[in-house]
Amino acid sequence: MKEFIQYLPKVELHLHIEGTLEPELMLKLAKRNNIHIPFKSIAEAKDAYNFHNLQSFLDIYFQGAEVLINEQDFFELTWAYLLRCKDDNVLHTEVFFDPQTHTERGICFDTVVNGIHRALIKGTTELGISSKLIMCFLRHLDEESAFKTLAQAQSHKDKIIGVGLDSTEIGHPAGKFERVFIQAIEQGFLTVAHAGEEGPASNIHDALNLLKVTRIDHGVRCSEDEALIKHLVTERIPLTVCPLSNIKLKVFNSMEQHNIVTLLRKGVCVTINSDDPAYFGGYMTDNFFAVTNAHSMNKTEIAQFSLNAIYASFISDSKKEQLRIVIQKYLDVHQ
Ligand code: HPA
Ligand code: ZN
Repeated sequence: MKEFIQYLPKVELHLHIEGTLEPELMLKLAKRNNIHIPFKSIAEAKDAYNFHNLQSFLDIYFQGAEVLINEQDFFELTWAYLLRCKDDNVLHTEVFFDPQTHTERGICFDTVVNGIHRALIKGTTELGISSKLIMCFLRHLDEESAFKTLAQAQSHKDKIIGVGLDSTEIGHPAGKFERVFIQAIEQGFLTVAHAGEEGPASNIHDALNLLKVTRIDHGVRCSEDEALIKHLVTERIPLTVCPLSNIKLKVFNSMEQHNIVTLLRKGVCVTINSDDPAYFGGYMTDNFFAVTNAHSMNKTEIAQFSLNAIYASFISDSKKEQLRIVIQKYLDVHQ
């Protein structure tokens, strides 16, 4: 079973590139760019990764991102993540980035996008990993800042497929960004949003109704609303669930109490993702291991996570069909 999971072809749909900054690269970039960080060693950094909720994580996550200055830094960050994808047999990944985390510090939008994009292209040609890039607005910032960020994306529409919404959920309702999302949709961007991670199930309704998103990031608190679960099943609205993240940020007390397997068996299109793997203790395969160690599952069910992610992805129908065949063949050979 361990081997089956390790080599299972995977698709990742919820990954913040800033959350892949491993302490080793953080220390290297801090030195190279002469940026002060409060950690002297990898062990010291890891010791600080003891979170009690989303906000306590976000404080450390934004601080870590301060070492990213030049295009080459964003390239190296993204390339390191893609090498991890290769290890985990991730065939396609949809990567989030938070432009405001960098532009607020005086880093140019173009520097960020160009560095990430250059690595994604190299990932396709050299590693055979396809990818899409999604720009997230920080929900703790105001609408004006989001509009400004959307304007900066106009000259990069060839590189950015969609917009998302992340950062502090509680106290920052989706409605604050309704006009920004409407404009983004008019401009041809696809939309996703974090909802129902720390916030209640009603936030998932708001993301669907106000922001017109086609999939929900996290969404695990849908369990509080049976009618919503039915709606997610009948409309086949995917959830990009992040199991290790949810335990680290105490959305659930233990993996045994996590609802991902219950949701899968109810017919919700749930997927497994790593969110911020450098901070939450694992990449894709680790997340699959964590779920399957806590919940007894057969191979067909485990492969369903990959099939769901293919369905939920922003690739073409023909590429989806190709990937489905890869999964089916893998299952046929390994049953
Ligand atoms: N939730 C909200 N904002 C985030 C997350 C998350 O899980 N990861 C990075 N930014
Ligand atoms: Zn996230």
